[in-house]
Amino acid sequence: MNRFTAIVLAGGSGQRMKAKEKKQFMDLCGKPLIAYSLMAFEKSNVTDIIIVASPGDEDRCMGIAKTYGITKLRAVVPGGDTRTISVYSGVISSPEGYVLIHDSARPFIDIDSIHRCMSAVMVYEAVVLGTVSKDTVKLSDDRGNILDTPNRENVWIAQTPQCFNKNLIMAAYDGYRKAPKSSITDDASLVELYTGEKVRMIAGNALNFKVTEPVDFLMAQALIGAKQGH
Ligand code: CTP
Ligand code: MG
Repeated sequence: MNRFTAIVLAGGSGQRMKAKEKKQFMDLCGKPLIAYSLMAFEKSNVTDIIIVASPGDEDRCMGIAKTYGITKLRAVVPGGDTRTISVYSGVISSPEGYVLIHDSARPFIDIDSIHRCMSAVMVYEAVVLGTVSKDTVKLSDDRGNILDTPNRENVWIAQTPQCFNKNLIMAAYDGYRKAPKSSITDDASLVELYTGEKVRMIAGNALNFKVTEPVDFLMAQALIGAKQGH
């Protein structure tokens, strides 16, 4: 049977949130923010969960997993200074099979999207959940002069999970370690740049937004309130 490991990233420091607490641990309607994605993966068909935590936060993450009944947790591993290093730490700790790399800062990942990622990665080896842009997107130079207006239907907003055959993302990391480029902001660009493999976008759900700034946290609270009917 194939193994599917959700790598839940919680190694960041949440600078843009400007809060005392790191955002992954902020209280979102009674639960720490990270608990929402852990619970989604627990309920889904993924077989294993690994949390990547900031060094020193490992016990806290273990405690949260215990409180919320996360039986699939296999390890809590330390992250690094950049997201790319944190992902690597999770990937090398994963069993052979497929990895689903997920930002703990996206509490609204839904089980249907997780399952569509799992089916698609078995076919395409590298897939990213996202949504087609509803807005027209303008590419500009550094001064704001418009350079291009790409066809909106081909413009995607990338989310997570970003899912790969473990061997493929390991090969991408081998290339990155030999010749690191600083322009990497997500896992898919690593695979695109260092392996030349095609990465396929699959349609997700606009609610799977990333809690990045205080306004996103307000939206997350409002959404949970709306789901609970008040
Ligand atoms: N992340 C990580 N290790 C890092 C940086 C980020 O595991 N060195 C994780 C974060 O915990 C988050 C996800 O990657 O769940 C997406 O990153 P982002 O939203 O940028 O979170 P932060 O880096 O914590 O926030 P900021 O950039 O505002 O400091
Ligand atoms: Mg960041």
